[in-house]
Amino acid sequence: MRYEGRFYINGELIDACVEVEYGKIKRIKKAMDSCKSISGVILPSAVDLHVHFREPGFTHKEDFYTGSLSAAFGGVSFVADMPNTKPPVDSPESFEDKLALVRRHANVDFTLYSMLTSTAHEFKKNRMFKWYMYEEPAVHIPSGFVTVHAELEECIKTADSLHNYDFARPESCEARAIRRLGALNSKFHIAHISSIDSVDLCKIFGFTCEITPHHLFLHRDMELGTYGKVNPPLRAKWVSKKLWEALLSGRIDIVATDHAPHNIEEKEQDFESAPPGIPEVETYVPMFLYLVKKGEISLQRAMQVLAERPAELLNLKKGKISDGYDADFIVLDFSEVRKIKASKLHYKCEWTPYENMSAIFPSSVFLRGEKIIDDGEQVGEGLGKFIALPA
Ligand code: DOR
Ligand code: ZN
Repeated sequence: MRYEGRFYINGELIDACVEVEYGKIKRIKKAMDSCKSISGVILPSAVDLHVHFREPGFTHKEDFYTGSLSAAFGGVSFVADMPNTKPPVDSPESFEDKLALVRRHANVDFTLYSMLTSTAHEFKKNRMFKWYMYEEPAVHIPSGFVTVHAELEECIKTADSLHNYDFARPESCEARAIRRLGALNSKFHIAHISSIDSVDLCKIFGFTCEITPHHLFLHRDMELGTYGKVNPPLRAKWVSKKLWEALLSGRIDIVATDHAPHNIEEKEQDFESAPPGIPEVETYVPMFLYLVKKGEISLQRAMQVLAERPAELLNLKKGKISDGYDADFIVLDFSEVRKIKASKLHYKCEWTPYENMSAIFPSSVFLRGEKIIDDGEQVGEGLGKFIALPA
């Protein structure tokens, strides 16, 4: 199949014809015969290295079908799903059980994390580990890709409000955890960093790091109540501003959502009882595209942090419109700005902290050359495939 249109290739938008064969980009030329024309701008779709799709065990909050459908509608073609399910993914057996369950109804490509425990060496097939430092203070570090939740149990307290939650799990707690990792002489990827000290420490120790959309777009003094409760906590407004600058200047590697849905009933409890987590996967790319339109981030930097660099961290042939890469595209029109409405999203949890914020949603989405969203409608179902990593 050949598609002709305005593609984002090598850092610029150019008119080209892209030939796709067996789901991959075979070649790109200025013009070729029988190219099917696509109107709008065509960008590589995003790669999200941090989601919680909640299956098995918590499928009242989300499941792999609804989570991955939300990802597709939000312009994300690959997700790495976290292991804190019920049962948790903490052995090759529980990994296989989860894979058998979720691969039947994944709408985008995916990989699965396993908990970093003392049995990590038993994993042969997929060496993607998540280390929750506040649960397992010391572990043997295996080979593979190790993402760390850097907070320590010893500096975590409870709080009764969103503002106070920042002080109950302070920035210094994250920094202390990262310093501890620095002493281990290993390579780590630090999840959801929430302070400038953490950014600096990652640079010092040679770690890669990700930031969530909520640590960029939300802060502790917004009227969000329990809906803004998340670990690590939302910080002061000036901190988000500094983190945004660090993202723009290249000191933060990637954006990853930490999409962590909980339903409204669970969030409507008192602050201490409400579970932490914010749904994100469907709205972040559209919000970034709106910021590109407004000139607050360049298209190049947005593509780096949303698509190119996350794919690179896992050696995935995704995130770029280039020969040999998966033909994962989103099609959009920069003049089509919409207000985000929870009622139009595909999450099971039915809420978003971004209600009424401006965004540019993709109209069509291609996964390995197959159209899965066409003009805002789902047209392909369950086409996502498991990718064993690191390759
Ligand atoms: O806020 C959070 N929610 N942080 C985490 O680390 C876990 C996540 C969840 O699974 O709900
Ligand atoms: Zn998480």
